[in-house]
Amino acid sequence: MKFFIDTANLSQIREANELGILDGVTTNPSLMAKEGIKGEEAIFNHYKTICEIVDGDISAEVLSTTYAEMVEEGKKLAAIHPNIVVKIPMIKDGVKAIKWFSDNGIKTNCTLIFSAGQAILAAKAGATYISPFIGRIDDSGWNGVQLIEQIARIYAIQGYESEILAASIRNANHIIQCAEAGADVCTCPLDSILGLLKHPLTDIGLAKFIEDSKKM
Ligand code: G3P
Repeated sequence: MKFFIDTANLSQIREANELGILDGVTTNPSLMAKEGIKGEEAIFNHYKTICEIVDGDISAEVLSTTYAEMVEEGKKLAAIHPNIVVKIPMIKDGVKAIKWFSDNGIKTNCTLIFSAGQAILAAKAGATYISPFIGRIDDSGWNGVQLIEQIARIYAIQGYESEILAASIRNANHIIQCAEAGADVCTCPLDSILGLLKHPLTDIGLAKFIEDSKKM
């Protein structure tokens, strides 16, 4: 399973990248706004900086919602850097736009996936990645990991090539469950990635080794 970081925060992106396990970055308008990135020039420069830090796929989300506008905006985003993946919402015009980008050799990430039906449509349109929002599904009393399992089964049966990118990750256990459920990629906040490191027996064991090493 590939690891992406789900943030527009440059210091967190650098920290995850320095771990040596990072395969890409996902952003969205909420994450960009959180970093105070405003205006087309600043937005484009920010994506360029992220591409210079991480050698992997970088999702940049369109802000428009009509087919023609999404195609124009996506073309501009894709021109920023060869690693840019155009992130498109799961709406009717979005499906059409994904098909256009697929036909024209531009990678896409279909975002806001909350059902298997949406995942089938995005795969049929040729999305490179599809992003089911695990945490938001759990928040609504449904089961996000079960959706990943269902989509993984359908894609295997049908031979769909879109990669399942588990998004809206809330904790380290989500990452483990998504790996077990067959996600191809997990995009995570830095805290959830670092949460995978933690085990009290590791800390206790290391303290004992350090103590005993003094007797060597
Ligand atoms: O980037 C999309 C997704 O990961 C958002 O997560 O935490 O806002 O539900 P969240």
